[in-house]
Amino acid sequence: MAALSDKLADAYQNARPRYPIDWFTKLAARTGQHKLAWDVGTGNGQAAIGVSMFLHLLPKLAEYFEKVVATDINEAQLKRAVKHERISYHHTPTTMSEDQMVALVGGDNSVDLIVAAQAVHYFDLAPFYNITKRVLRKEGGLIAVWVYNDLVISPEVDAIMKRLVDSTFPFRTPIMNLAFDGYKTLPFPFEGVKGMGCEGKPITLDIPHKLSLKGFIGFLRSWQPAMKAKERGVELVTEDLINRFEEAWGDDDDVKDIFYKAHMIVGKLSASDIERHRKRFESNCVVTKLKDSNNSAVIASVTAAAFAGVAAYCAYSARKNA
Ligand SMILES: C[S@@+](CC[C@H](N)C(=O)[O-])C[C@H]1O[C@@H](n2cnc3c(N)ncnc32)[C@H](O)[C@@H]1O
Repeated sequence: MAALSDKLADAYQNARPRYPIDWFTKLAARTGQHKLAWDVGTGNGQAAIGVSMFLHLLPKLAEYFEKVVATDINEAQLKRAVKHERISYHHTPTTMSEDQMVALVGGDNSVDLIVAAQAVHYFDLAPFYNITKRVLRKEGGLIAVWVYNDLVISPEVDAIMKRLVDSTFPFRTPIMNLAFDGYKTLPFPFEGVKGMGCEGKPITLDIPHKLSLKGFIGFLRSWQPAMKAKERGVELVTEDLINRFEEAWGDDDDVKDIFYKAHMIVGKLSASDIERHRKRFESNCVVTKLKDSNNSAVIASVTAAAFAGVAAYCAYSARKNA
């Protein structure tokens, strides 16, 4: 994802929605335990804060996420993240190994809910899914990914937006295509959760948001497809287009109730994933035991040698003194 200037990063942050609290309530209700959540590709922490808001709303319930680990490869985004006592933010450069990532997040078989909000399409999927399958709690752990790719503002504004979206075709990257098709083609090697989508069949949800004209224009300027086109020398968000949006918006001071169209898939580990993990874990235990027994053998022979040395010295001293 291209790095944004401070000004564009502000615009980006203002236009991005907070995710509806009932999403987290639903996810938490289907998660076996509520000790640890991982918000991966957290950005400014939009999803991480959603998880912790859930904690505030339901503080008396026995079931909640006690801790949220939020990670991102972009340090600048993390600096702008919303702070919360239960969220720990970590910079995770792509140079980190699988074992380092697993340890940082909480270890094998430790995470109850993994959330990748508007993010998984940027990831190198194979290594990410390997880590996911290790850290996800084998009993009751869930992974939820979602993307929002469309705005519903008003018939007048939406018509211009549709033409703008169509104009991005020549500049779309494979990553953008995953987002534009609402994760229908996203590889998602997990077992679906009833009513919450599965690979190839995401569910569609609305995210209500309030947006001003200024916020909308900021959103357009920080919009990745338009930025990609700009990198290739084509300005899609021209002054003329902005004028047309302004006209279609109506009153400049109007803050509109809008919707983002989102697409979500929730998954859990399959029985074969759990079996693979169990075997891997067992073979690790055997190696550790072997190491331990080798260590014991070494300690025993060193101790024996030390005793033999002391005994020989005592015998030598006794002979000398006799
Ligand atoms: C569109 S933002 C979404 C941020 C936030 N989750 C939200 O819902 O608004 C995508 C984020 O994914 C991060 N990202 C991209 N590739 C990543 C990777 N391999 N590992 C972790 N984060 C990554 C980017 O730095 C960026 O902050």
